[in-house]
Amino acid sequence: MALRIYLLLVALSATLAPVTAQDPEIVDEIWPEVQQVGRTGRLNCTVANKDTHTVMWHHVDTGEHISNDEDVEYQNNPMIGGLRKYEVAKRISGDRVTYMLVIRRLVETDAGIYKCTIRITSVSFDQWPTKLGKITVQVPPSIRPGETTAVMQIDQGQNSTLVCAASGIPAPNITWTKSDGGFLPIGVAQYRSRTLPMINVSVVDMGVYRCVADNNIKPPAEHLAQVLVFHAPATRVVQNSVGQAQNRRFDAKLECIVKGHPEPTVTWERLVNNGRVPITDDDKFDINKQTTDNQNLKAGEQWYTLKVKNVQANDFTDYFCIGTNTKGKAESIISLFETMECQGPNCPSLQSSRAPRPQCSALAFLPALVLLIGRALRPR
Ligand SMILES: *[C@@H]1O[C@H](CO)[C@@H](O)[C@H](O)[C@H]1NC(C)=O
Ligand SMILES: *[C@@H]1O[C@H](CO)[C@@H](O)[C@H](O)[C@H]1NC(C)=O
Ligand SMILES: *[C@@H]1O[C@H](CO)[C@@H](O)[C@H](O)[C@H]1NC(C)=O
Ligand SMILES: *[C@@H]1O[C@H](CO)[C@@H](O)[C@H](O)[C@H]1NC(C)=O
Repeated sequence: MALRIYLLLVALSATLAPVTAQDPEIVDEIWPEVQQVGRTGRLNCTVANKDTHTVMWHHVDTGEHISNDEDVEYQNNPMIGGLRKYEVAKRISGDRVTYMLVIRRLVETDAGIYKCTIRITSVSFDQWPTKLGKITVQVPPSIRPGETTAVMQIDQGQNSTLVCAASGIPAPNITWTKSDGGFLPIGVAQYRSRTLPMINVSVVDMGVYRCVADNNIKPPAEHLAQVLVFHAPATRVVQNSVGQAQNRRFDAKLECIVKGHPEPTVTWERLVNNGRVPITDDDKFDINKQTTDNQNLKAGEQWYTLKVKNVQANDFTDYFCIGTNTKGKAESIISLFETMECQGPNCPSLQSSRAPRPQCSALAFLPALVLLIGRALRPR
């Protein structure tokens, strides 16, 4: 009878007895670890009264058993950069032992909850002391191109939405601006959202829109979206009249700036005997689209030139530059008029006579020049 009572007490003490100084326990919190992808994460499990018991680490999210004391049991433990992916470092401090789980080259799937457990063989596993620790793997932002607007083509007065899809941990904040620093169609200079509403768009809304995804993990990600608004052409001229002297092999350059979407086709005509005649690129005329960047151009504008070669008396007339697209048509007029002297930057003799006496104004040479040219052209 006495023996029975004794056994009962032993059993009770094993299961119900309050923790005594001799029982192993995990003494501190396992502080959460926050690290960027690729770096090393460390979780510390500090144990008192370790004795002969075993300290184990598990990855709760995957169910993997990682280690017993300092031994990594998990088979999938590759060498990276001369060191193992997983390692458990033991550190003794007085009567406490810390088992630090080290995870190198963190990837997104390493994130999650890790459990430290003291295995006590004499008690059932549901009574083993455990504590949880968390690893957060931070990932810098990246744009998901497939879900992000690259080019939007839209009619005036219509509504649509620009989308900027970004990944990253933590989820990035997304901010929209217009590249030229102007206002967004919703009337503000910047807007924080994954989507940018484009309401009642007009031609001024054309341009490049920038979205920046930022989650404080460097570097932020950036994306540019182009917005093209269908509209009829508009034309303007650089100078509405251009002068040149006739019959001396001088050329005249007429310049016209055209915009519109889709990009207009540009043609030139000129007035001949009160009728308009199309101009073709030939010995007499050089038709060009300037491809060099020009500071005088606004967004969406194209620069066209018509060179009238070897200007003759019958070239002094009105010229039309005509832009046409599916939305309509526009034109501008440039008059070519007669001057006595060579005009423009390509008057060669003026250039060479200016060179030896730079302090004199070019105008001072004009009379001499007229004389020279006159002589040169005088019939023998
Ligand atoms: C674990 O301990 C190591 C060494 O003291 C320390 O560098 C590391 O930051 C600790 N980990 C956490 C998550 O506190
Ligand atoms: C565009 O959106 C505005 C405001 O939501 C609405 O009033 C308007 O009818 C929409 N226009 C078109 C063409 O759908
Ligand atoms: C749309 O914009 C045009 C000019 O930009 C304006 O005249 C018109 O009233 C606007 N329509 C609406 C529904 O806001
Ligand atoms: C997003 O912006 C808010 C407000 O500025 C800020 O509190 C938050 O930390 C930002 N989120 C990220 C992931 O940077």
